[in-house]
Amino acid sequence: MKSMINKYIFGNPINTCAVEDNIPESAADQIQHIGLSSDRMHISYRMDDNDIVYGLGEQVRGINKRGWIYDNCCTDDSTHTEGKHSLYGAHNFIVIDGKEHFGLFIDTPGEVRFDIGYSEQDILEIGLKEPGYSLYLIAGSSAADIVHQFRILIGKSYIPPKWAFGFGQSRWSYMNENEVREVADRYRQQHIPLDSIYLDIDYMDHYKDFTVNEETFPEFQNFVGEMKSRHIHLVPIIDAGVKKEDGYPVYEEGKAKGYFCTDSDGNDFVAAVWPGQAMFPDFFQPAVREWFGNYYRTLTDRGIDGFWNDMNEPAIFYSERRLKKVFEKIEDYKGRNLDIQSFFEFEELIGSISNSPEDYEAFYHMADGRKIRHDKIHNLYGYNMTKAAAEQLRVLVPDKRVLLFSRSSYIGMHRYGGIWTGDNRSWWEQLELSVRQMPSLNMCGFLFSGSDIGGFSDDATADLMMRWLEFGIFTPLMRNHSASGTRRQELTEFPEMAADFSNIVGLRYMLMPYIYSEFMKAALTDTMYIRPLAFDYQDDQRARSVEDQLLVGESIMIAPVCRQNAVGRYVYIPEDMKMYRFRSETDFDTEYYHQGEYFIPAELNEVLIFVRPDRIVPLAWGAESVEQLNTDRIRIMDYLKEKAAYQWYDDNGEDIADSLQSGIRMIEENSSGEINIHGYEGEITKI
Ligand code: GLC
Repeated sequence: MKSMINKYIFGNPINTCAVEDNIPESAADQIQHIGLSSDRMHISYRMDDNDIVYGLGEQVRGINKRGWIYDNCCTDDSTHTEGKHSLYGAHNFIVIDGKEHFGLFIDTPGEVRFDIGYSEQDILEIGLKEPGYSLYLIAGSSAADIVHQFRILIGKSYIPPKWAFGFGQSRWSYMNENEVREVADRYRQQHIPLDSIYLDIDYMDHYKDFTVNEETFPEFQNFVGEMKSRHIHLVPIIDAGVKKEDGYPVYEEGKAKGYFCTDSDGNDFVAAVWPGQAMFPDFFQPAVREWFGNYYRTLTDRGIDGFWNDMNEPAIFYSERRLKKVFEKIEDYKGRNLDIQSFFEFEELIGSISNSPEDYEAFYHMADGRKIRHDKIHNLYGYNMTKAAAEQLRVLVPDKRVLLFSRSSYIGMHRYGGIWTGDNRSWWEQLELSVRQMPSLNMCGFLFSGSDIGGFSDDATADLMMRWLEFGIFTPLMRNHSASGTRRQELTEFPEMAADFSNIVGLRYMLMPYIYSEFMKAALTDTMYIRPLAFDYQDDQRARSVEDQLLVGESIMIAPVCRQNAVGRYVYIPEDMKMYRFRSETDFDTEYYHQGEYFIPAELNEVLIFVRPDRIVPLAWGAESVEQLNTDRIRIMDYLKEKAAYQWYDDNGEDIADSLQSGIRMIEENSSGEINIHGYEGEITKI
């Protein structure tokens, strides 16, 4: 099928800036593949039995999205179970891969429902809430081709500095400088590599953005420098809600300039988040983005070079209005004999205080030159907060990459930052979910992504942490994060496992030349770093249904172990492969597998990496930080059948990179297994 994108515009959509390529509009009466309702609010398609539906980025359930309803509406919900319908991102892109091959991108800032065979098993029905939208229909020869075209359409993915590919330690509740220092000390003492420590809301003064608590972090700039001298970057959180407090410059300035969202009468819209009453910058206005983004200077000036933007759906604990209503209703229940009906109503009432649709309907933005009610453009709020940061960081730190990722997102934001998948739980099934989310996120442009390793809420066990790390060493963002009040899950908190943790995290550093090279190639050529097997083995019916193994870059396949107490797992090998079983960078063995299905043992401290025929994986000798990695000595993992070649990309990891050319070195292996790396004079060892 000819590769082609058609764009259709319905109503008067606001410009989401998701798409970079300005392609001409096609006539709606010539629309192919799909059915459109007369009011244009419903799109339908009859799926063939063997069709796979990919996409939707950050969502619940499988890589194949068939069999559920997904409501794309950015939601602050910390229970990511399969009964849910939306998470923090809204990524309205799907690919139908089967009898026909085409992709659909619904570009609208409002909520969209994807009923993919839920109401009727073979019917895909997309329902829009807001009338104005652009529809992109992408025809192509395969899922990979469609995703590639889509990625060109939406523009290049964000690239972080190289150090951000190192391991990061985070926890909500590092209360002071000393606690952070101790975390660093313990990692360094136990020789577990570490590149960053994240500062959650407790570094701030009363949760006020762009402040530092001077009592608990008295010499912040020196502290940032001290950590940097130990090759550890501190990464502070920034929240969307700005504390309403007289004398606090961000609030006063924002208010004086009219930069916060207002209600229907033009009065301040006030709602509570961490600091209590807060106001929400109207990130849709360029001037507001510039103003807010410029505040990141307060931290970059002190040596900070990475940020995570949070609570930007935006999350709302309560508004006074909503709270008042709930209290009034509670009065009604007082003294009553609560029966089945009224008890559940009562219970639901309390649960409905946070993130209430009523609140999202109560404030307004100036977007695209018009006053628009928040709920109509809700999905773009976090996106625009991160855009604000990225746009100004470019000005504040010209020519250098800064780490930036967000909780809430919409397609288009992938150009400005990465994402993490929010408040997951320390459950085995959430590890499996993160395995399935990564390729879907890649399809939507979010290459720099990862989940909270070990799980955010609930208590992690050492074995869960280990298995999660064994997957996390392949995700570009590799961060251990947990909620305050849960069991501590820094890797140093499990002394009996310290050596194994050090070895497994060490593998990430060993793999860094390959991971970085593959990430950069994916980002700069609009391809996927992590893919489902079916993207490369599209005619292999068995490979098409595999949801728990992934291709990482061009050379390897992974099969993470996601079950507690498992001593191994079944692995589908789609073509002959050579498997490396790593316990550490020096302790490993290899096995060869023919195409087929096998039960492969994998002890708790073992990582299985499957190398494809005639592919090459460049490896470094591990180090305790990315900066200390040395590529003067390179090791090569390979599976030679005839001859192999690999384009190895590398750069200094901090300059803005917009093309591959200057950083590519060719690695070639001839039929006798001799390896030559063009322009490379270091030591080469095959393993
Ligand atoms: C939100 C974030 C989480 C963070 C917490 C406190 O729940 O998703 O990562 O730790 O807020 O800031």
